[in-house]
Amino acid sequence: MLLLIFSGLISCAEKREEPVQNLAIIPQPAGVIQTDDTFYLNNKTKIGCSGELESKAAYLADFLGTATGFNLEIIEESGKRNVISLSLDSSLKDLGEEGYKLEVQRKRIDITAFSESGIFYGMQTLRQLLPVQIESKKIVAEFHSWTIPCVSLTDHPRFTWRGLMIDCSRTFWSKETIKRYIDLLAFYKMNILHLHLVDDQGWRIEIKKYPELTNLGAFFPEKYDEPAERHGFYTQNDIKELVRYALERNVTIIPEIEMPGHVLSALSVFPELSCGGGPFEIHPFFEGPGIHEDIYCAGNEEVFRFLESVLDEVIQLFPAEYIHIGGDEAPKDRWEKCPRCQRRIMVEGLKDESELQSWFIGRIEKYINQKGKKLIGWDEILEGGLSETASVMYWRGWLTQVPKEVVEQGNNLIMSPTSHCYFDYDYAAISTEKVYEFNPVPEGLEDSLRHLILGGQANFWSHIDRTEQGLDKQIFPRILALSEVLWSPMEVRSWERFENKLQTHDIILEESGVDSYRKSESNGK
Ligand code: ACM
Ligand code: ZN
Repeated sequence: MLLLIFSGLISCAEKREEPVQNLAIIPQPAGVIQTDDTFYLNNKTKIGCSGELESKAAYLADFLGTATGFNLEIIEESGKRNVISLSLDSSLKDLGEEGYKLEVQRKRIDITAFSESGIFYGMQTLRQLLPVQIESKKIVAEFHSWTIPCVSLTDHPRFTWRGLMIDCSRTFWSKETIKRYIDLLAFYKMNILHLHLVDDQGWRIEIKKYPELTNLGAFFPEKYDEPAERHGFYTQNDIKELVRYALERNVTIIPEIEMPGHVLSALSVFPELSCGGGPFEIHPFFEGPGIHEDIYCAGNEEVFRFLESVLDEVIQLFPAEYIHIGGDEAPKDRWEKCPRCQRRIMVEGLKDESELQSWFIGRIEKYINQKGKKLIGWDEILEGGLSETASVMYWRGWLTQVPKEVVEQGNNLIMSPTSHCYFDYDYAAISTEKVYEFNPVPEGLEDSLRHLILGGQANFWSHIDRTEQGLDKQIFPRILALSEVLWSPMEVRSWERFENKLQTHDIILEESGVDSYRKSESNGK
C-alpha cells in the first residue's frame, strides 16, 4: 500500500509514465472516470482564474505551496498549458451550489462550478488526488514534480446539511481547536459546524449586555480543580474570527443557545430566572446530575426579555440561516409546582406542561423569525405541538416513529440519531462500519417528502472525552464514514472500497496531526 501511495512522488531524475493509481477520494465522488495518464505539478504550474475567484486561487496557491515549496503564480486564465484553471460556469446550475466538475488532463486541470462553494470542493478533491505528502506542513524538498492522475469527475452532494456538533459547554475547546476542526470538516466536504455554546456546565459565548454570564458562568468553581483549558468562553471577536474562517471554507457555524433546560450556567448567574430562585452553582458533568430540574421559568416575562437580548447579539454574530435553541431534556417538575408557570398555562389555555414548553419555543421562534432567522430544536420540540416552520434535529434513536412524524407534518428534519451519529459513544457501540451503513432517509418514506430531510450530523458531547486527543479519537475516522454517507449517492457507496481508502487517509490524518482511533487500535473499524 505504501509503495502505491509513495509512487505519486517522482523526482525529476526518475520521471516516468505513471501506472493508474488507486483513487482514495473521501467522500466518493458521484461520478469519476480515470484515464491512464498523469498531470505533473511543478514550479512552472500556474493557477488561472478570473477576478471573482482570486481568493480561491490564493487559497490553492498557498495550500500547494506549503509542501511543494512552489511559488505558484496566479494568472488571468487564457487557455495555457500547465495551468490549474478555476472558473464559474452558469451552465452547471444543475450541479447545485456545491457541485463541480474536475478535469485533470495531461496538459492542464480545469475546475468548473456554478458557485464558489463548488470551486472550493473541486480543490478539496484535487488535494486528495495528489500524493499524501501534499498535506505535509513542511517542504518536501527532494521532489521537483508531483503527480496527479488524469480524471474526468462530476460531483455534487446528496444532502445539503452535512454536520458535526461539538459540545463546547461540558468542555471548552480553544479557538485553535475549532479552526483545526473547520479545516478537517472542509477537507471532507462537511459544511456545518454546530457549536453547543450553552449548557449546565458553562456559558461559552460573550454577551455584551450580560458580562456576568461569561465572567461567572464560564468557569468551574475552584474546588473542582479543573485544568484551565477546560473552561473559558469565546469573545465576540473570537466568534467573528471563527465565522469568517469557516465561511472561507464553506462551513456554516450554527450556534446553539439552550432553553428552557440545560441552563444551570445562566441560572447560576441569574437565579431569579428559575422558578424557585436558587442559588445555583455550575459543576463538572460527573460532579452532579446530568439533567437538572431547575430550568427557566416559563411564567416570568424577565426570562423572555433576557433571552431576546441574548438572541439579538447571537443573531448579529452568526450569518447562518438557522439558530438552534436546544429544547431537549427539560424536566417539568418545577413548572408543575410554580404558580407563575401554572398561571401561564391557564391564561394561554394550555393543556399541560408539555404544551407550555411548546408555547415557550413557539414564542422564541416568532422572535427569531422576526429577525429573519429560522429555528431548529432537538426532537423534544415535537412534544406539546410543533410549529409549522421549525426544523427538527432528531436525536432519540429509540423513538423510531419521530422522523416520519416530523416530515409528515411538513417540517424539515436533520438526522442525528443516537444509533449512528453519537460520536461520544465508544466504537463498540457505534463502529465506523455502522456509521457507514447509516441512511438518513427513513425506510418507506414517500418520495414527495424526501426533500424535507436536509441531511445529517454527528454529535460529540464532551463530558467523557475531555482532551484534544480524546476528541480526535472519537471523531476520526467515523466522520469520514459520515461524510460519504451524506455526500455520495447510495449507488457509489461501498464499504470495502471505503475501508481501502482509509489506509491512505490514515497517513493523511497523521500528517495533519489527528489522533485517529485507528492509530491507537490496529483494527479500528
Ligand atoms: C441530546 O443528546 N440531549 C440532544
Ligand atoms: Zn415557573
